[in-house]
Amino acid sequence: MLTNKREVLKGFFVLEGIDGSGTTTQLHRLEARSVSEGVAFRADCEPTSHPAGVLIRTILRGDIEAQPGTIARLFAADRHQHLEGPLGIRRSLNAGTKVLSDRYFFSSLAYQGLDCSWEEVSNLNVGFPFPETLFFLDLEVGEAQARINSRGQAREIYEEAPIQERVRLGYQRAISEAQAQGLEVMRLDARQSVKELTDSIWSRICR
Ligand code: TYD
Repeated sequence: MLTNKREVLKGFFVLEGIDGSGTTTQLHRLEARSVSEGVAFRADCEPTSHPAGVLIRTILRGDIEAQPGTIARLFAADRHQHLEGPLGIRRSLNAGTKVLSDRYFFSSLAYQGLDCSWEEVSNLNVGFPFPETLFFLDLEVGEAQARINSRGQAREIYEEAPIQERVRLGYQRAISEAQAQGLEVMRLDARQSVKELTDSIWSRICR
């Protein structure tokens, strides 16, 4: 189980969903919306562009072998830097900038929870604060796979359909545990149009 007393970071928002659910598309559209509306807003993602995140990407491509427990720790290390580093989320929030991250520790539970024990991944992520709102783009695996195929890119280690089915179940568990501890979750049907999704998410961010 996740801990009972998580800090909640006001102004911090997270997008989550299985691969192909459209989180990155939404991130870019929301960033463009913030520019056109003149809202102080920062959009970024995990893994980050910090060397810890770059190392993770090489592992995800299958170029370097790493044990599941190593991968889980690298994601937690990258997340710590993302939050606390000199260019981190807290600095931006303190400066009055809203922050949206494409993926956060819910991804670690859903993905690393497949090969590590749930408890191990929970413990590695127990110290990270909750966002103000988690946006979950919900999509059936078949549909998400069709979108991944249409990109025509090389697949990463988690992108095969049977793994994604398990990731989707992992998300359900992560989200229901977090909701039980007070996390605000906006679950969105990712089959809606790209514009409808952007509008719904943006109005919640700016409420
Ligand atoms: P993704 O967000 O889809 O980015 P891109 O479109 O640039 O490939 O890919 C990141 C992958 O990292 C995705 O498969 C999920 C995985 N991931 C984890 O396994 N654990 C984590 O904690 C995070 C943040 C991501």
